[in-house]
Amino acid sequence: MNIPDIIIAIDGYSSTGKSTLAKLIAEQYSFLYLDSGAMYRGVTLHALETGIINEEGKIDETRLKTALETLDLDFKIDGTYIGERRVEQDIRTLEVSSHVSPVSAIPFVRNFVDEKLHAFGLRKRIVMDGRDIGTTVFPDAEVKIFMTASPEVRAQRRFDEMKMKGQEPVMEEVMKNLLERDYIDSHREVSPLSRAADAYVLDNSDMTLHEETVWFQGLCQGKFGILE
Ligand code: DC
Repeated sequence: MNIPDIIIAIDGYSSTGKSTLAKLIAEQYSFLYLDSGAMYRGVTLHALETGIINEEGKIDETRLKTALETLDLDFKIDGTYIGERRVEQDIRTLEVSSHVSPVSAIPFVRNFVDEKLHAFGLRKRIVMDGRDIGTTVFPDAEVKIFMTASPEVRAQRRFDEMKMKGQEPVMEEVMKNLLERDYIDSHREVSPLSRAADAYVLDNSDMTLHEETVWFQGLCQGKFGILE
């Protein structure tokens, strides 16, 4: 099946499998996949490594604002980069996960990231995942999906993912981090996580990835007709 040159926005809670589905769609339909969370994670990694976030987790906003003026954060073909350094692994640690929500709630951080994301939207055929893509970044996206799943299923997925990467997660900590991020992401003042009125809800608590792609095909067939 072919789909037209559009923007697909996938939003939802942490660990609902947004990136897994987004990557698969990108592969199947030759779209470019962009992970907006990686940008917030990149800013957070930089803030942690430079002491802008201190030991107690306090963020020095004045220093962060200055740092963003020169922070060279970018998506390249093989992942996220700060300058010449590929940070794809470093941005996915529990330490970064624990600090990223407060960082992403700061309005000037959101402006910094939004500007980068908009530039990518100038070309169509992209699938971007995040928290506010369908509501704020690309409110005119032709297809919007809002993903959700039960906290237990999400925590288990995150736990398994961390184990696979050789980390040693503790289930209680993973669940705590997940619930904290849910809360901060959906209660912040600027662009909180919320479902766009025209987004299709996908609850994948009991779905396989294959079932999700069949669901997506059905959605596109309904929207664009069977093109091939
Ligand atoms: O999708 P993720 O878990 O990698 O996202 C990391 C954090 O970034 C998440 O806690 C909230 C924030 N985020 C956001 O505020 N807006 C987005 N569009 C994407 C991510």
